[in-house]
Amino acid sequence: MARSFKNILVTGGAGFIGSNLIHYLFGRPEFQGRVVNLDALTYAGNLESLADIEERFGQGPDARYSFVKADICDRTAVERVFAQYDIDAVCHLAAESHVDRSILGPEAFIKTNVMGTFTLLDVARTAWKGRDDVLFHHVSTDEVFGSLGDTGYFTETTPYDPRSPYSASKASSDHLVMAYHHTYGLPVTLSNCSNNYGPYQFPEKLIPLMILNMLEGKSLPVYGDGKNIRDWVYVEDHNAAVWTIMRNGRSGQTYNIGGENEWENIKLLSVLIEKVAEATGRPAGEYRKLITHVTDRPGHDRRYAIDCSKLKSELGWKQEHDFASGLEKTVRWNIANTAWIDHIRSGEYTQWVRKNYDQR
Ligand code: NAD
Ligand code: DAU
Repeated sequence: MARSFKNILVTGGAGFIGSNLIHYLFGRPEFQGRVVNLDALTYAGNLESLADIEERFGQGPDARYSFVKADICDRTAVERVFAQYDIDAVCHLAAESHVDRSILGPEAFIKTNVMGTFTLLDVARTAWKGRDDVLFHHVSTDEVFGSLGDTGYFTETTPYDPRSPYSASKASSDHLVMAYHHTYGLPVTLSNCSNNYGPYQFPEKLIPLMILNMLEGKSLPVYGDGKNIRDWVYVEDHNAAVWTIMRNGRSGQTYNIGGENEWENIKLLSVLIEKVAEATGRPAGEYRKLITHVTDRPGHDRRYAIDCSKLKSELGWKQEHDFASGLEKTVRWNIANTAWIDHIRSGEYTQWVRKNYDQR
């Protein structure tokens, strides 16, 4: 029988995947519980992504949505949330998520991704002692598996081989999650997903960065030869998979999630240029001229590709969004949401870009 939850703690709910997840959950008829969004609101968090949710579900004595501004490393704050809201499930997304930033400043990644995950696990273990009607779901990445050559896929049994400070910190968090399951019996599930795209994605990541640079007539910085390959999945398909795993996944198991949709960066950019040209009515050639090959990312993983057959055959999940329509929606969203973009790019992010990237 599927699990059901009364009070889900979503960490990192003000970020890209987390805010989409909260929208997804409130659209699920089988979920009638409450969501508590715990987020530190770093440069990547933006509560404007949830303004409609706050308005519809965040009001009144029986509000189904609450926001708590806190750091996942702050044990006292996390303990308070568990007690106050009687949390019976955690969906853990809060993280430092951008590989380039981890290369330039790894410390925050170790703090949040390793120590923060440890803190959450340890509070859950203490609060849930002996209970099996609870679940800690950990949202992780395919980057923990390292880099593929021209052939093959990551499966759930591929050995871990992280290569950036980001992926090493996520690998470490994955190991802690499994260690808490095996050592303390904490009910856990874990998912490793490929590259997401869609609305509310922070414009440091490839797809929204390229869309906005096209709209603003800025150069399109392609790392190295542009032949690195990523497997792209629409964010709602990722979140549907996470929810399926939370409800039906076996405790102690990991599940791979992917788009089965591999693209070389340079080829993806060609398609994206066509989509932006269609949406703006400008000639594609105008955008193509902006492509600039820049210095490669150090240790740049060559290829990611996910085998998600376990999730499909065991839990019946499948991708619902094709790449062409997903990209169109993403382009249109970025064109329509200039206020969201201006706000999230103001402040710390802009200063960081100015300091670190001459080319932009
Ligand atoms: P994001 O950077 O858009 O959002 C991260 C959120 O976490 C932000 O709201 C931020 O404020 C919050 N946060 C950061 N540090 C925190 C802390 N110490 N305490 C509390 N909150 C904190 O990230 P995203 O792209 O939405 O990724 C979410 C999760 O999914 C991450 O764990 C990431 O590793 C994983 N993931 C992402 C992708 C992808 O393609 N984006 C793919 C697979 C897995
Ligand atoms: O695979 C899952 C991972 O996908 C997640 O765990 C990470 O949180 C998420 O950020 C993403 O990591 P990537 O490093 O693959 O994503 P990014 O958008 O930074 O880069 C995608 C590809 O595009 C990668 O090969 C690097 C390249 N790139 C990226 C940027 C930002 C460029 O060529 N130019 C750029 O300006």
